[in-house]
Amino acid sequence: MSASPRAVATITTPMPSEPATMDKIVSLCKRRGFVFQSSEIYGGISSSYDYGHYGVLLKNNVKAQWWRAMLQERDDVVALDSAIIQHPQTWVASGHLAGFTDPLVDCRTCKLRFRADHLDVSACGRKPSKRPGASDECDLTEARDFNLMFETTIGPVKEEGATVYLRPETAQGIFLNFRNYLQFSRKRPPFGIAQIGKSFRNEITPGNFIFRTREFEQMEMEFFVAPGEAQRWFEHWLTEREAWYTRLGIRPDHLRLRAHDPDELSHYSSATSDVEYLFPSADSVGAGRWLELEGIANRGDFDLTQHAGHSGQKLEYVDTASGDRYVPHVIEPAAGADRAMLAFLVDAYDEDEIGGEARTVLRLHPQLAPVKAAVLPLVRKDGQPELARRVYAELRERMQTEYDEGGAIGRRYRRQDEIGTPYAITIDHQSLQDDTVTLRDRDSLEQARVAIGELGDELQRRLRAPWRSPKLA
Ligand code: GAP
Repeated sequence: MSASPRAVATITTPMPSEPATMDKIVSLCKRRGFVFQSSEIYGGISSSYDYGHYGVLLKNNVKAQWWRAMLQERDDVVALDSAIIQHPQTWVASGHLAGFTDPLVDCRTCKLRFRADHLDVSACGRKPSKRPGASDECDLTEARDFNLMFETTIGPVKEEGATVYLRPETAQGIFLNFRNYLQFSRKRPPFGIAQIGKSFRNEITPGNFIFRTREFEQMEMEFFVAPGEAQRWFEHWLTEREAWYTRLGIRPDHLRLRAHDPDELSHYSSATSDVEYLFPSADSVGAGRWLELEGIANRGDFDLTQHAGHSGQKLEYVDTASGDRYVPHVIEPAAGADRAMLAFLVDAYDEDEIGGEARTVLRLHPQLAPVKAAVLPLVRKDGQPELARRVYAELRERMQTEYDEGGAIGRRYRRQDEIGTPYAITIDHQSLQDDTVTLRDRDSLEQARVAIGELGDELQRRLRAPWRSPKLA
C-alpha cells in the first residue's frame, strides 16, 4: 500500500495561445450553471443576472479571499455590514444626489438611449424611419443629466419626505459608522473598515455580461489615516490590491494600474488609479479591451467633513495622549465582486486536447475553484460506489466535494474540468484491495496513488500550496 503520492501517468498537450472569448465564457456560464439571464421564462430583463450553484460558490470564494486579505491577514482593518437604505441626507452630504449623474442622449431615429460620454454610434439601432425622406442615421437629442440612483419610498404612503435611495456604493455606510468604530473597536488611524454588499445604479448603458449591471456587489474598504500619511498609504494600497489579483492566478500581463487623468476624477477624489484587466472581445476576431476591475482613490477628508457638516456631529479623531485632533483622510480600494469573478473566469478559461479529444478547462486557482474535489467510482458495481461514498462523506467534512457515479469516466472528468475542480479522486478495483485511490490533477493531468487515510491531508496540503497559473509555463 502506498503511503505517499506516487506519480503514475502524465499526458500533456501544448495549449493554444488565447482561447477565451466573452461569447465562450457566457455560454460556459449558462451550460454549467454559473450565471443565468434573470427572468428568462419571461424573456429576460436587460442586464440582470442570476447566479447558479457554481456561480454562488465561485463568487463566495472570491469574497472570502477578499475578506482574508483585508481582515485575517491584517490587524488594522475591521468589518461592517451596513444597511442598503440609509437616511436620504446621506446622499445629499455625499454629493450623489446633486452629482451622481451621467449625460444621457436619446436617438430620435432608433429610440435607444446612450451615455453621451461613451457614445458608440455603431450600437445605434438604426431602424429605418417610416417617414418619407427621414435620415436613418443617428439623430441625437441634447445631453441631459440623468441621476443613477434608484429611488423608492419608505412606508406605505408616497408622501413628501418618504423618498429614499438604494445605495449606489457601500462606502457611505462606512462613513456613517466612523464614530461607532472609534468608540468600540479601539482602533486609531491608520485603520480601515471593510464591507461587502450589494449596490445599485440605474446605468444607462449596462452590458458586457456581468461586467456592468444595475445591481452588483462591491467589496470596499475605507482606510482612515493622518492627513500627512495619505500619499504613502495610497501607494501601499495600489501595490496590495494589484498583488491580490496576481496571487489568485490572474496573469500579470493581463493586469495593469492606470492613473486617472485630472478630468476623470470623481468629485471626492484627489487621486485615483484603476486596476484594469485585459478582457477579450466577444468573438475571436475583435481586439481585447482594458477595463476597470477596481478603483483605488485618495478621498481626502471630503466624506467625513461633508457628513459632519450635514449631521452636526463631530467626525474627527482626537489623540488622547497629545490632544491632537484632525479629520482623517481616507484611502479607498473599491472593487466589484462580479467583475473580479468575471476576470478570474476569463483568465482561467482554456482549451486543450487529451488523447485526441477536445477539452474545455477552467484553470482556476484552487482556492477559488467552486468544488475542490470530485469522488468518482470507476464503475457502478463491485463495491466501488460504496467505498467512494465513504471517501466522499469524509472529504466533504473538510472541503466542497462532489460525488458522481453516472456515465463514462472520461465524461465525468471533463465535466469537473469545465467547472474548474482541481482534483478528481477515482475509486477502482485496486482501491478495494489496498485502500488507495487515484488522485488526478486538473492542470498537469498527473495521476498519483494515495492512501485513503491520507487523502484529506494530502488534498489540503495541495490546496494551500502556492499556486501559479499553468498558462504562465
Ligand atoms: N466607492 C467608490 C466607488 O463606488 P466605483 O469605481 O464607482 O467607485 C467601484 O465602483 C467598483 O465597483 C468598480 O471598480 C467595479 O468593480 C464595481 N462596479 C461599479 N459599477 C458597477 C456596475 N454597474 N456593475 C458591476 N460592477 C460595478
